[in-house]
Amino acid sequence: MKQDLQRSTRLDDMRATFGARTVAPEERRQEVTALFDRIAPRYDLMNDLMSFGLHRLWKRATVRLARTRLEGRAGPLIDLAGGTGDLALALAKADPGREVIVADASAGMLAVARARGGARLGYLHAEAESLPLPDASVAGVTLAFGLRNMTDPALALREVARVLQPGASLILLEFSRPAPWFAPFYALHSRYVIPLLGAAIARDKRAYTYLVESIRRFPEAGAIARELDSAGLKVVRARPFMFGVAMLHVAVRA
Ligand SMILES: C[S@@+](CC[C@H](N)C(=O)[O-])C[C@H]1O[C@@H](n2cnc3c(N)ncnc32)[C@H](O)[C@@H]1O
Repeated sequence: MKQDLQRSTRLDDMRATFGARTVAPEERRQEVTALFDRIAPRYDLMNDLMSFGLHRLWKRATVRLARTRLEGRAGPLIDLAGGTGDLALALAKADPGREVIVADASAGMLAVARARGGARLGYLHAEAESLPLPDASVAGVTLAFGLRNMTDPALALREVARVLQPGASLILLEFSRPAPWFAPFYALHSRYVIPLLGAAIARDKRAYTYLVESIRRFPEAGAIARELDSAGLKVVRARPFMFGVAMLHVAVRA
């Protein structure tokens, strides 16, 4: 893995990258989808091992916030880049009666979501950059650890703003930059533990090397807040988890 990866300052800088490599956007799209199709069966187990189960706590906080933001608002909730559907199912349980739809570009990830969620969830095989949903039709969007992987993340944010009802919220959970004192421990974990687990458990070291590289490429929280703002989504709350390893943004459609 290259150690000299530059952190992007804008989401647009991610479009021509696949981890440490410079690629054409179409190759990025194909590589990302193929990667998630491949790792889908081991994805949940890997998440638990890599994060020591912490992603469950972060998702629990996401559910609580989403529930509050949806109060009094009719319409579906989209869990965008919802992957294997763990967050979507938790959201559906917390808000019975709400239509919760997992939208994802990977058929492999959606197949795992279907097995988990059955009739409790809706499923949409779609790319975030062009959602087959009417303008202002959606009561809320959650997006956990997906923005970093999108072919055109800034376009995806504009698309989220298009489908959200005025006043409705995007709840965005994504990796960020840890506090300086914690960064060396995190770097060791990223550099050695995650690729090792990827090789041993997912049998796909390359996929988990990409994961680490894409996190290092992803702009920091201040830049993300600016990107949300220029997509028409005003940040009303930002909450770091685990000393900044992950960041939760709540952004409201004007
Ligand atoms: C790291 S996983 C996150 C899954 C889930 N939200 C979670 O928190 O565990 C990233 C997901 O983004 C999806 N994805 C990548 N690019 C996408 C795009 N352009 N549109 C929709 N989903 C995309 C992948 O297929 C994958 O399921």
